[in-house]
Amino acid sequence: GGLWAVVPAAGRGARFGGALPKQYLPVAGEPLLAHTLRALFAHPGLEGVVVAIAPDDPHWPGWTAFEGRPVRACSGGATRAASVLAGLAALPAGVRADDFVLVHDAARPNLRPADLAALLERGREDPVGAILAAPVRDTLKRAGDDGGIDGTEPRERLWRALTPQLFRRLQLERALAAAAAAGAEVTDEAMAMERQGLRPLLVEGAEDNLKVTTAADLALFEFLLRRRAG
Ligand code: C5P
Repeated sequence: GGLWAVVPAAGRGARFGGALPKQYLPVAGEPLLAHTLRALFAHPGLEGVVVAIAPDDPHWPGWTAFEGRPVRACSGGATRAASVLAGLAALPAGVRADDFVLVHDAARPNLRPADLAALLERGREDPVGAILAAPVRDTLKRAGDDGGIDGTEPRERLWRALTPQLFRRLQLERALAAAAAAGAEVTDEAMAMERQGLRPLLVEGAEDNLKVTTAADLALFEFLLRRRAG
């Protein structure tokens, strides 16, 4: 089957504040989500995208295609994992059980084409799959209840999990369903796979693959976009 991506975009953006969920904030005349889809479709091998949106999302632009390739919308769930599960269920029948599927945050518009290509190349050679990630640069402190420092975490082996993440369709479905059944909150797809005893590969990606969470992130993305346009 062909390569598809699932984009969870059903978050309400509570951390950003304001009425408009962050994936719809206007950037250069378009919703942030349009920039995210463009970054994914920059890969010529991507056949289509399923976007998981909030039920009765008034902001959804109603796309059925983007850059000439199909876009499907489905209703997401109460958690990111539930939204991804809904997206996987909405993939076309042509995507087979052992086909790799990308999962990419709606709020990560600054994905670089070279990173997406590297993830696909290395992830498809891995028995489990892979995620984009960036090494931790800061010194990490563990806080006590009183706000004092209980300790310092060695950062040498710590990575920040980014997206896209690349897994086989059925394996990912089963891992996410198992986590949900156990009541375990998984904050990315790899975490659900890890709970199954699987070991996804880390593929180093650019640090500017930012998740737009705050106004400062949005300003940074606007800057990066302008710089790219030259
Ligand atoms: O809020 P957070 O950073 O976890 O969101 C990551 C991505 O997951 C966002 O693109 C958000 O729209 C999506 N999400 C979702 N369904 C939820 C919660 C978050 O699709 N219930």
